[in-house]
Amino acid sequence: MIVAIDGPAGSGKSTVSRLLSARLGAVYLDSGAMYRTLALACMEEKVDTENEDAVLALFKSIDIDQKIVEGGQVVLLNGRDVSEAIRTLEITAAVPPIAAMPRIREQMRVCQRAFGEKAGDGMLVAEGRDMTTIVFADADVKFYLDASPMVRAQRRHNELKQKGVEVGIEELAREIERRDNSDIRREVGALKIAEDSVVIDTTGLGIDQVVDRLYEEVQSRRGR
Ligand code: C5P
Repeated sequence: MIVAIDGPAGSGKSTVSRLLSARLGAVYLDSGAMYRTLALACMEEKVDTENEDAVLALFKSIDIDQKIVEGGQVVLLNGRDVSEAIRTLEITAAVPPIAAMPRIREQMRVCQRAFGEKAGDGMLVAEGRDMTTIVFADADVKFYLDASPMVRAQRRHNELKQKGVEVGIEELAREIERRDNSDIRREVGALKIAEDSVVIDTTGLGIDQVVDRLYEEVQSRRGR
């Protein structure tokens, strides 16, 4: 069974998807982590992130993997733990041009579907921007999570603060707006609501409430 979850930055998607997959005993795919890892590899190898041929050649030469270890996410680039390194503001800013490249998205789709095969007959929870519309357009259950821009900026602020990084809420709101614009407007793999998605506004909801809501929906579909 495939559960696909999309939504904009700060909608609570990653936290909720991780908790949901743990509760379901599912394999978890964070597709954003793959784009972030490719951006990190570009920076490390000094590959021009405007040059699609060069980015694609690099992508094909590296190994990106991810797993959950003791409840925490571990992202690997050629076997090296880059879980922290991919979450910096520099990497966040470096991803959009890469994520807008058609051939990169095509190759990502192949890798993401291959990763999904790990679930075998079990469950997969996949989250990102185009999981419900393209990569797992045939998913059994689809969700679109959203929240008001201010709440999303506040969540990013709290997340960074926990890591000891102080960034003003206004700056984060601008960063989120820039990412929204590029995620929504790009020609391929744009963020949009799939017709058969269950849309949940998480603005006034706590994480546990959202996870409960998704879990119940998945269980009810399982029983059908
Ligand atoms: O989900 P996260 O914020 O970590 O994703 C980082 C960036 O990767 C997003 O801003 C988006 O541009 C890109 N992305 C994407 N398609 C996905 C997942 C993420 O384009 N399926």
